[in-house]
Amino acid sequence: MQFAAKLTEVPLWGKKLVTVNGEEVVLINDKATIFACENYCPHQGSPMLGGIVKNGVISCPRHGWHYDLASGASTDHPGYTLKTYRVEVVGDDIMIDTAAESD
Ligand code: FES
Repeated sequence: MQFAAKLTEVPLWGKKLVTVNGEEVVLINDKATIFACENYCPHQGSPMLGGIVKNGVISCPRHGWHYDLASGASTDHPGYTLKTYRVEVVGDDIMIDTAAESD
């Protein structure tokens, strides 16, 4: 697991872009659950930092495709998967696993 950010840097309903192991990762606080996903949409590469999050699903800012933040699977375009990362909160530290995708 790699340190990604302090919990206080990702407030409720907020997002933060970090770079971990050379990968751009978006940290998301959705109803006090922290998710982590890649920053580039698997459709045409739009930055997911600008996406809208609702009920554990992020919608891409460009064409609005939806991705489940837990599995990364697109909920409306089967076969497209946003890379997600396993997250652990240890005290005030958000840790992510860049070696494995969450599922
Ligand atoms: S670039 Fe994200 S849905 Fe098209």
